[in-house]
Amino acid sequence: MDKEYKPVHGIWTSRWIFILAATGSAVGLGNIWKFPYMTGTYGGGAFVVVYLLCIAIVGIPIMMAEVMIGRRGGLSPIHTMRKLAREAGVSRHWALLGFMGALAGFLILSFYSVVAGWALYYVQEAATGGFTGKSADDIGSIFSGLLQSPWLLLGCHTLFMLLTMLVVAHGVERGLERAVRFLMPSLFVLVLVLLGYSLSSGAFMDGVRFMFHVDFSALTRDALLVALGHAFFTLSLGMGAIMAYGAYMPKEVTDPATGNRKSVSIGSTVLMIAVLDTVIAILMGLVIFPLVFGNGLDPSSGPGLMFVTLPIAFGQMPMGVLFGTLFFVLVVFAALSSSISLGEPVAAWMVENGWSRAKAAVLIGSGAWVLGLATLLSFNLWSEVTFLRGTFFDNIDFLTTSIFLPLGGFLIAVFAGWIMKETQVRKELAMQNFKLYMVWRAVVRIFAPLAVLTIFVHTIHQAFTG
Ligand code: TRP
Repeated sequence: MDKEYKPVHGIWTSRWIFILAATGSAVGLGNIWKFPYMTGTYGGGAFVVVYLLCIAIVGIPIMMAEVMIGRRGGLSPIHTMRKLAREAGVSRHWALLGFMGALAGFLILSFYSVVAGWALYYVQEAATGGFTGKSADDIGSIFSGLLQSPWLLLGCHTLFMLLTMLVVAHGVERGLERAVRFLMPSLFVLVLVLLGYSLSSGAFMDGVRFMFHVDFSALTRDALLVALGHAFFTLSLGMGAIMAYGAYMPKEVTDPATGNRKSVSIGSTVLMIAVLDTVIAILMGLVIFPLVFGNGLDPSSGPGLMFVTLPIAFGQMPMGVLFGTLFFVLVVFAALSSSISLGEPVAAWMVENGWSRAKAAVLIGSGAWVLGLATLLSFNLWSEVTFLRGTFFDNIDFLTTSIFLPLGGFLIAVFAGWIMKETQVRKELAMQNFKLYMVWRAVVRIFAPLAVLTIFVHTIHQAFTG
């Protein structure tokens, strides 16, 4: 007989706190750093269209399923899966889905922290006027200089991992709630300020054309799978982060208008998170690409895109020191509110097994820190060591984002659509509109699993036939 695990992590004080925390998890390096450079590498407008379709058709329904499963289970993803599998009378091996997610989160955390470390370095660089009046070339060499210094990278990676552990050790409610309340709106304001700058930079329309001119022949080979994987990555789906956050979501809140208790509908809540996440990603593209074209840079230059283009803007705009510093501080915090959610599923699981949060955080953090060293070295000493997809970093990114997350999402959809009892699913989702519910159900049972499978098979087929 399984032990009964008690939910011990607390509940968000309102639906809004859940939205903020989940948006904090979703909006991160994926939006600000990854999305623009992937659009640049994988085909511009055509990639954007495929990505938007993946968000709308696969991402949102699966996110609803993940929150629904989490809220019903009320525990860490591993124990939630075990509990709901027992409830549905199926094999307890479904808990493996929780373990796979925990592993994926751990792997992502290891490289996420390295890249967030770059942003930390840029805070200091921006604050000390390091970009002021510099040419595009000079700024390019600041970035390559950083990547060539393992010790510098190590310092930044260590600092960011310490920050993450500190917050995870304090639990989800204390610290994080207060932080996201302030940080998410500030981030939004800054994105708008930068958008204003890029609008006036002269090359705005070139950027718009690049992002919205749809030419499917420009799609590169893996673009479909990469767009699908990124839809999962940017919404924090497929590994249990959103499931864990869903476990802390209230089932009912008091309606301020009537004073009655009413159930919290998962659909509209998830929609809000996905829209916020997508809007921020698109706006970041509209900030970055005009600057890329205005300065004669290459949109397909890869991971360095944001770290080279934005500093050029900060180096030239009025009060660039202030805005530059603020911006990179906010990137760090956006990354932090995401990295916490990568560690949370494992931490919650350990706490349920009787560990203290502090100990859990130290263990997860040090493990991911050590693994992060391999990513860190991918940019310098090991940059020539390539296999399969490229460097170690390229491989761990591809393995987690394009394999683990879609696979996790696929299994989550199957579990919600085929394994759980429909009456329970309906009650937990609390959707008012029956037609919409039927659409969701069809998507989660058939369309989403099929779409994920097709893209998988297609890409693997391509990989073998060239
Ligand atoms: N969504 C975050 C971003 O876009 C990253 C992230 C946080 C994540 N938690 C996750 C990705 C869980 C996948 C799974 O930067």
